[in-house]
Amino acid sequence: MVTEIKNPIISHKLAQLRNKKTSTKDFRLLVEEIAMLMTYEVGREFETKEIEIETPISPCKVKILEEEKFVVVPVLRAGLAMAGGVLKILNGASVGHIGLYRDEKTFQPIEYYSKMPLKLEEKILLVTDPMLATGGSCSAALQMLKDKGAKKIIFMCIVSAPQGIKKISEDHPDIPIYTAAIDQDLNEHCYIIPGLGDAGDRIFGKL
Ligand code: PRP
Ligand code: URA
Repeated sequence: MVTEIKNPIISHKLAQLRNKKTSTKDFRLLVEEIAMLMTYEVGREFETKEIEIETPISPCKVKILEEEKFVVVPVLRAGLAMAGGVLKILNGASVGHIGLYRDEKTFQPIEYYSKMPLKLEEKILLVTDPMLATGGSCSAALQMLKDKGAKKIIFMCIVSAPQGIKKISEDHPDIPIYTAAIDQDLNEHCYIIPGLGDAGDRIFGKL
């Protein structure tokens, strides 16, 4: 299931992110801000637990998130900048890391790193990667997490292509996708059109 988040503040920030004139410094900040705003929208679906506390006046039943159940999983490199934004909202979440890059010729994902918190099967994972292009990287990352025992996963990306959405919907129909934009197509280098270019290079500098 895919949800394209419609929010004027996110649209405004995404417009700046897409602009090729935006500096690395601003780009990184915008990715973090958009991820933070997206977390607010994704969070509408989160379950809460009722507890009783004392206000200065009286006892009071309140609804809280069990923040320690959340694990933010950035797909390296570009997903790291989004993770910072998610963690600004879910301060108590832990963090796992997946290192993947897309081979420049075959466009196939190559895994180079993975470190996850314990008891993954009890957690809610928020996987972050700004770009969903062919879907190869995301599908491999989600499979890695399932193989490690993860049961509840949500995928968050900023820009997606129809091809990537189709692949994730087919390979992982159980995983909800949240995206700030569904773009038109992929070019011959499998870059999203119009997209925003190479997210990792724009956040961290060209390799
Ligand atoms: C980018 C992006 C995704 C992937 C998307 O990473 O951050 O992980 O490409 O493409 P796909 O859907 O076709 O797999 P990249 O491989 O450039 O690695 P980097 O973040 O380390 O630069
Ligand atoms: N990876 C990116 O960083 N950008 C794209 O457009 C496609 C894959």
